[in-house]
Amino acid sequence: MAKYLVTSALPYANGPIHFGHVAGAYLPADIYVRYLRMRGHQVLYVCGTDEHGVAITLRAEQEGLSYRESVDRWHAEIKALFDRFSIRFDVFSGTARCRYHAEASRRFFRVLLERGWVTERVEEQWYSEASGRFLPDRYLQGTCPECRHETARGDECPSCGAWIDARQLGDPVSLVDGSRPVLKETKHWYLDLPGLRAAGLDRWLQGADPERPHLPWKPNVEGHVKAMLKDLQERPITRDLPWGVPVPEELEGAEGKVLYVWFDAPIGYLSATMEWAEDQGEPEAWRDWWQDRQTHLVHFIGKDNIAFHLVVFPAMLLGQENAWDDRPFVLPYSVPANEFYNLQGRKFSTSGGWYLDNEEFFSRYSADAARFHLALTAPETADSEFTWEGFQATNNSLLADKLGNLATRVIKFAARRYDAAVPASDGSLDRHPTLAEADERFAETGDRLSRNELPRAARALIAACDSLNQFFDALTPWKLAKSEDSADLALCGACIERCLAYLELLSRRLRPFCPDSSDRLRVMLGQAAAGGGDLWGEEGAGQPPAHLPEGAALGEAEVLFQKIDEETVANELERLARRGGRGEE
Ligand code: MF3
Ligand code: ZN
Repeated sequence: MAKYLVTSALPYANGPIHFGHVAGAYLPADIYVRYLRMRGHQVLYVCGTDEHGVAITLRAEQEGLSYRESVDRWHAEIKALFDRFSIRFDVFSGTARCRYHAEASRRFFRVLLERGWVTERVEEQWYSEASGRFLPDRYLQGTCPECRHETARGDECPSCGAWIDARQLGDPVSLVDGSRPVLKETKHWYLDLPGLRAAGLDRWLQGADPERPHLPWKPNVEGHVKAMLKDLQERPITRDLPWGVPVPEELEGAEGKVLYVWFDAPIGYLSATMEWAEDQGEPEAWRDWWQDRQTHLVHFIGKDNIAFHLVVFPAMLLGQENAWDDRPFVLPYSVPANEFYNLQGRKFSTSGGWYLDNEEFFSRYSADAARFHLALTAPETADSEFTWEGFQATNNSLLADKLGNLATRVIKFAARRYDAAVPASDGSLDRHPTLAEADERFAETGDRLSRNELPRAARALIAACDSLNQFFDALTPWKLAKSEDSADLALCGACIERCLAYLELLSRRLRPFCPDSSDRLRVMLGQAAAGGGDLWGEEGAGQPPAHLPEGAALGEAEVLFQKIDEETVANELERLARRGGRGEE
């Protein structure tokens, strides 16, 4: 049994999240967590909203709400969507609502400062004379010094992804008031990334720190980190903003300054764990996760967050050394960074109307169908997309026809022929080659899940259903049942017993993807619906499921997945086109 601390990137509380986010960083984590728990591992799954920074202040200013009102509103909305998707965190906090967050962030900052990893500098910054304020990050727009893209922001370029030193922007404009800003001196604090790199970050990144091993990085992660390390510089970690974690007040020049959102946000994983620990009645229990060498820290993120999770946050953690007691912090063990997930050939865009309305969606379709389809099409190695035709095909041809239909036809047959109970089996079919294939496909499902290879895990599960359908068709139990020959009748019983035992196994393998359907299938099979740890079992290649007890009562057959007809899909496409017709990308 191992210990896993799993996080999903804290979504900005500045708007709704969409299916693209869910497919990239939340659903894969939830499926992984459910899988690990079924295997009997100890898991803590932590998330919350990212509630500071310019992304938030700009939004609240547009909405005419206070910063607090705005983040509260979006926090609630985002949480509701996760509930709809049956994504279950152990704690879902937020950086402006967590009672530990500000202090933990300042403590990180102070430790880094004391040890010399944070230094202060007085430098020129863009200042709006019209509004009498400095203009951090996205309050500025100008030309990207790298690629000449004309609407680059003060922190990064949306086109080439470069991290930008705002002073290098060409033709900057203030987004607060449209004025031309001027350069003015101000003090800020910088994180010494090159220093931390030499002090251990590099060694750890290369997998050469025996105290803190990690899995090989995915190729997209590796590439990104390499590019970043080519030109690693000190980074400012404070900003002039009226909203955020205040810079420790004892420092001269701290007034009006807050920590940079990318400094405090990842500490949100830790402060949320502190909140969880206190809610458990064991305020120190967070240390068992963050300061225990046995912990496997796994960050699920989108590809745009790679630098922060592989370089900046690990550097911050390393820089704490033993300041929180004599044990150091853990560093990430694995960072499953996904690519982007689009919608019908275009990027999701809430402002452009190119999205799926969450309310509408869940009033018509089930979370399980959505979960399975997003898992099957997850952007694991390349960008991928949601299409209505694809969703319909997954739901109808895979979930309804292959999986759901298998369950109903076997259970209906047993109801009619065996009085809704498990028939006797002479074991004559236990080594049937088609079942051996199903064993392998089930084993592969687990294997893929353990490596976060969701599309392949989902395909293997469907392939197992294919084998089981073939088995049923090849044995023709509906003919055997009518035979006068006792050998045929015995074979019929053996066939149905195997089908039921494999359906029970299917209910467990399906569970991380489709928890609700798994419960319903288990009820149909007369099994206890909810199962705790260790429900996974060892069945797979070479190990078929054990015989079910003869005479055990079955439940009633139900339709697990409702089909979606052509007209419904056509309506959805039309609705999307109408809403997205505004053309904005
Ligand atoms: N809010 C960021 C985004 O949506 C992610 C923050 S992840 C954290 O891109 F580690 F900083 F918390
Ligand atoms: Zn650029």
